[in-house]
Amino acid sequence: MQQQLTNRRVLLGVTGGIAAYKSAELVRRLKELGAEVRVMMTPAATEFVSPLTFQALSGNPVHSQLLDPQAEAGMGHIELARWADLILVAPASADSIARLAHGRADDLFTAVCLASDAVRAMAPAMNRLMWANPATRDNVALLADRGWAVWGPGEGDQACGEIGPGRMLEPLDIAARAAQLFETGLLAGQRLLITAGPTREALDPVRFLSNHSSGKMGFALAREAASAGARVTLISGPVHLPTPDRVTRIDVVSAAEMRDAVLDHVRDCDVFIATAAVVDYRPAQAAAHKIKKHQETLSLELVRNPDILAEVAALAEAPFSVGFAAETDDVAHYAKVKLNAKNLNMIAANRVGGVDSAFDGDDNALQVFWPGGDASISRSSKHSVARQLLELIAQRLRDRD
Ligand code: C5P
Repeated sequence: MQQQLTNRRVLLGVTGGIAAYKSAELVRRLKELGAEVRVMMTPAATEFVSPLTFQALSGNPVHSQLLDPQAEAGMGHIELARWADLILVAPASADSIARLAHGRADDLFTAVCLASDAVRAMAPAMNRLMWANPATRDNVALLADRGWAVWGPGEGDQACGEIGPGRMLEPLDIAARAAQLFETGLLAGQRLLITAGPTREALDPVRFLSNHSSGKMGFALAREAASAGARVTLISGPVHLPTPDRVTRIDVVSAAEMRDAVLDHVRDCDVFIATAAVVDYRPAQAAAHKIKKHQETLSLELVRNPDILAEVAALAEAPFSVGFAAETDDVAHYAKVKLNAKNLNMIAANRVGGVDSAFDGDDNALQVFWPGGDASISRSSKHSVARQLLELIAQRLRDRD
């Protein structure tokens, strides 16, 4: 199933109304779509449903106090406002709508809404005459003008015994509308597995063979893929880089460990991108003790490391497999040869060595090839190059479907 809310952070604002009981189901629906959910409640909402219910369903503490020293030490109202990708108010009572329209900030709920630049949506729920009242109409129009999405209300039997417009939309419908807001995410719902950085092949307990790969390209791809809505697992050799937000990172050292980690996770991925500079040969045997310098010369016997990318691309149910080719010359030719030899869906080639070297720098330029096509990504930051490469991958995935 496509999970259009993967990686999305939904802050659900529950305000005081009988429909608050439906918001418990809404939390489940949002989570089913892949969202991370936090709940904030107005004091009136806590009279209808216990915060414990939302805490259990969301898996996160519920926020309701503006000046709670404990909450401020953890996630205070400004952090909460920054955390959210979407603030979803459901049910939105007549009073909460009025307070939002007037920019109030005297409780946690209104203060967070005022302090956030997240996408905002509300599902109103109230008695039909309260909904029809010109004061409510004006408040809703004002908020819609300021960018709030207003979903519903629906018509039908009301808890107050009347019939008419004022019912909160069903949780399934609200969750689907929330997902639609983010459907533009280039890789919404896709699962990406990315390798990055160098590997280290032990010679003895203190020495190793390795290379200068910084891991920057793989980490930039992981970050950009996560913000394009993908669920990303990053398998990294030893690098000095922080884990990008919303990315699951697995640290490995040697090529053998990287291969094991990839094979453990490859069945759960739609796209595999191998940016790692895997060391091609490892010592046939790592010495158990530090090698002493008694001899004038020292010979090392090296054996080939497994080609992780080729192995993945050859799987019966291989993911869309993307390789990188670092070449010193005749870049296009060698890249195309590698595309065929490893049976890849795409290869991104860059020049290494000389002034244009991609290793360790913050910039990169790529020539990208796939069976029957190619594209160039001109020199810019690795983040911008990563975004453009992900666009090409998304395009090829769409064409394949
Ligand atoms: O054959 P070559 O090493 O030039 O291929 C580079 C591509 O293959 C990169 O995508 C790299 O991550 C991947 N690779 C691999 N395992 C290896 C060697 C390379 O996954 N042992």
